[in-house]
Amino acid sequence: MDAHDSLLELIGNTPLVRLRTPDAGRGATVYAKLEYLSAGGSVKDRIGLRMIEEAEKSGELRPGGTVVEATSGNTGAGLAMVAAAKGYRAIVVLPDKSSAEKIATLRAYGAEVVVRPGGLAQHDPEHVVNVAKRIAEETPGGWFSGQYDNPANPAAHYLTTGPEIWRQTAGRVTHLVSCVGTGGTISGTGRFLKEASGGTVRVIGADPTASVYSGGDGRPYFVEAAGRFRHPETVEDVWPDSFHQDVVDEILPVADRDALLTIRRLAREEGLLVGGSSGTAVAAALRVAAGLGPEELVVVMLPDSGRQYLSKYFNDEWMLRNGFLDGDPGGPRVGDAVPAELREQPLPYLHHHATVAQAIDALRARAAAGAEPVLPVGPAPVGPGRQPTAPELVGAVRLAELTAAVAQGSAAPGDPVGEHLGAPLPRLGTGEDAAAALAELTGSGEALAVVVHDGHGVGLIGADALRALLGSG
Ligand SMILES: Cc1ncc(COP(=O)(O)O)c(C=O)c1O
Repeated sequence: MDAHDSLLELIGNTPLVRLRTPDAGRGATVYAKLEYLSAGGSVKDRIGLRMIEEAEKSGELRPGGTVVEATSGNTGAGLAMVAAAKGYRAIVVLPDKSSAEKIATLRAYGAEVVVRPGGLAQHDPEHVVNVAKRIAEETPGGWFSGQYDNPANPAAHYLTTGPEIWRQTAGRVTHLVSCVGTGGTISGTGRFLKEASGGTVRVIGADPTASVYSGGDGRPYFVEAAGRFRHPETVEDVWPDSFHQDVVDEILPVADRDALLTIRRLAREEGLLVGGSSGTAVAAALRVAAGLGPEELVVVMLPDSGRQYLSKYFNDEWMLRNGFLDGDPGGPRVGDAVPAELREQPLPYLHHHATVAQAIDALRARAAAGAEPVLPVGPAPVGPGRQPTAPELVGAVRLAELTAAVAQGSAAPGDPVGEHLGAPLPRLGTGEDAAAALAELTGSGEALAVVVHDGHGVGLIGADALRALLGSG
């Protein structure tokens, strides 16, 4: 019989497929390793299995035990699948930016899901990793799998992903391109390929521009599960033990826009429906390949499927709202009211640590200058004059609300304004149709909206400016 005894035998052993996009015709050939064809749908099945089997061997995980992990989703799914197949209970702690599809998948495998705010500093007791460790300690038979520091994570790739690529390319691979999250994939796969090739294979990381791995300041970004975010209040940023920097020759930054437009093209032009980090990796791989000769062979890791991101990256409304897409040019677009040179100006916003008194002064100054007395509230700037990304704008303050709160005694002038936030301002993407945007803004009852381009707040816009743009007043 051509059949398997267990689903666990269907983890890994994923195919390599040549990319056929015209861009891939330049320079070296690029082969994509399709990790979404693993049993649980992502690269993380491999480490789910390996971490659990190592813990079984060491006795850290015993029959009837509970697997606990903090993860943006795929590792959780890998662990939850293996736990279900082996009869363990699983608890997964997730940051709240995780897509609804990822959360639903975990629940479908029978895992218990704990959602905590994302974007906290590493030392914060409510950071997802600290919450997961605590749950593991407090649960009888609990075991924290700890993908960031568990040697079984890179080992899984050293023992499976690397040898598969070497065999599948008959030893002809010359470059490996992979995103870096925990670093397990690039470290284990890269180490194996370097050893097998006598050190000639070059290992290249692909990283969201804002991520600290490629030299970004760690502000939030939109591609999930790749790169490294750094909270502005992080004291010491400790990189994962799973990331072996000595294996990596170079790390290329890739803008969210490039990554997301790349996966939309891969789906339409090649039928490859993959997630955002695959776009980061493919955009970097095409850049690498363009500089190489036809005898060289690039392998790029595609970690997961696009099905998990249908409501985001493959949803035109979401893409438009976040300024990653330009709509059909029937008339003026929102971005026409915020020309490119103005987008370079810092977005007016209040720091969330500013006091209520400072906020009231700033709002009064706006009113005196004839501007709407409303401001979004954002993060500590990590770099000078940087534009905050849309997720960093946590709310807004309005002069009337704030002065009323002080008069009623519910806010003190010395309080941080972050403790007295009003609803966030509506957002409009630069590529959205200006007429529809005007109708939406008017309907919302808000005076201002934040204009978002490539995921960053680049300006404030009011109904009057939109009307002027449309030539109706
Ligand atoms: C979709 C996706 N891409 C990339 C990565 C990064 O892989 P690694 O953690 O092995 O560095 C992950 C890890 O969670 C992932 O889920």
